[in-house]
Amino acid sequence: MTQWTVTLILLCLGATFAVSQSVEDDANLSTIGLLQKYGYPAEKHIVNTDDGYILELHRIPRPGGIPVFLMHGLLCSSAAFILMGPKNGLGYLLYEQGYDVWMGNARGNTYSRNHVKYNEDQSQFWDFSFHELAIFDLPASIDYVLHETNHPSLHYIGHSQGTTSFFILGSERPEYMEKIFLMQALAPIAFFKNCKSPPVVFLGATELTGHFLRMLGPDEFLPSDDFLTMFSRALCDANRIGLKLCKNTLFQFAGYSPTQTNETMMPVVLGHTPAGASSRQILHYIQFRSSNEFQQFDFGLLQNRVRYSSLKPPKYNLSGVTAKVMLYYSQNDLLGQPEDVTRLYFALPNVVERYLVDYPSFNHLDFLWGIDAPELLFERMFKNMRYVEEGADKFKLNGYRGK
Ligand SMILES: *[C@@H]1O[C@H](CO)[C@@H](O)[C@H](O)[C@H]1NC(C)=O
Ligand SMILES: *[C@@H]1O[C@H](CO)[C@@H](O)[C@H](O)[C@H]1NC(C)=O
Ligand SMILES: *[C@@H]1O[C@H](CO)[C@@H](O)[C@H](O)[C@H]1NC(C)=O
Repeated sequence: MTQWTVTLILLCLGATFAVSQSVEDDANLSTIGLLQKYGYPAEKHIVNTDDGYILELHRIPRPGGIPVFLMHGLLCSSAAFILMGPKNGLGYLLYEQGYDVWMGNARGNTYSRNHVKYNEDQSQFWDFSFHELAIFDLPASIDYVLHETNHPSLHYIGHSQGTTSFFILGSERPEYMEKIFLMQALAPIAFFKNCKSPPVVFLGATELTGHFLRMLGPDEFLPSDDFLTMFSRALCDANRIGLKLCKNTLFQFAGYSPTQTNETMMPVVLGHTPAGASSRQILHYIQFRSSNEFQQFDFGLLQNRVRYSSLKPPKYNLSGVTAKVMLYYSQNDLLGQPEDVTRLYFALPNVVERYLVDYPSFNHLDFLWGIDAPELLFERMFKNMRYVEEGADKFKLNGYRGK
């Protein structure tokens, strides 16, 4: 062996070590820590909701840029938009496009676990679904961003539950739609009948709330070992992937994408998810599926009567969602199935684009972390944003809608 070869081997070993060390660091860093590590400006902001929750917003500030508000999905946090690093993270790429990037954190996740009156060990803290997230967290966060940036409206980008809560916001507090310049919905979820996620289908079939709660935890979503084991076997056997990933609830719900997953980065994903949610959020989704309606949480006849003055939960009125909406969906999304997205498309009054990702096996989490997400999805989003910014009226005339 020449000295050169030895040096080369040592260099390679060094490089391998450097990557894995860096990956390990990223698994443990907070959103702010990640932004700082990669040399981006980072700000933490505190927002108070009308019902006492204390939320953290994370910002990649670009003063003067148009504000973009990013809202994560179930069991995720602001980290979802940057954990893949500067080349692939939507948050970073938006910043590079010149936007002032704000990332929300829903009540109950890693960064938003404080309340003026309750602490996270109390049931009262977890007394919410994404309904409350929509009518309290989103308005408080949106108002905060508009106030700080002195802009009349912002770009909203939501993933999964970040779209569900937006559609509820439009239904329940339509006055907020004036503050939305454009809403881009990644893997949108409202109607849920065709959901193919194994845990959702299974839980929908058991229909015994007591049984649910034993498996999911009564307050915070902390599933029992039985639950995790039941679904980990199916996921591992089908994909021959590591047990740690199979035992992760996020992947159990959303599935696993062999061709779009960067294995090297999985420790980082696992380090940041699941980020916390209430069990009622899961139950609410299960009810969407079993009722085949986009409606408020069903507390049972008695409580419904007290809360809603009717035996059945009220349906959300999607005609209130008057903001311009773009729907991006995919064939292999177990949660946001094309049939359900189509129904949503016809229920929304102002959809300006409906785009099926041109990659048949693209799944629910690939919208965030897919290896090719920048080419398959983000570039189109940036183009659409510019297009709407340049002339909203012209945009509509061009017949994008094509219903
Ligand atoms: C990351 O956190 C885990 C658990 O908190 C800990 O066991 C591990 O040593 C940490 N790794 C680094 C590189 O800090
Ligand atoms: C996967 O992640 C590693 C570590 O960040 C990176 O070096 C590599 O380029 C990524 N692979 C692909 C195919 O994007
Ligand atoms: C839904 O909202 C629209 C306008 O926001 C209103 O005209 C309509 O009456 C509402 N429908 C129901 C059933 O409340």
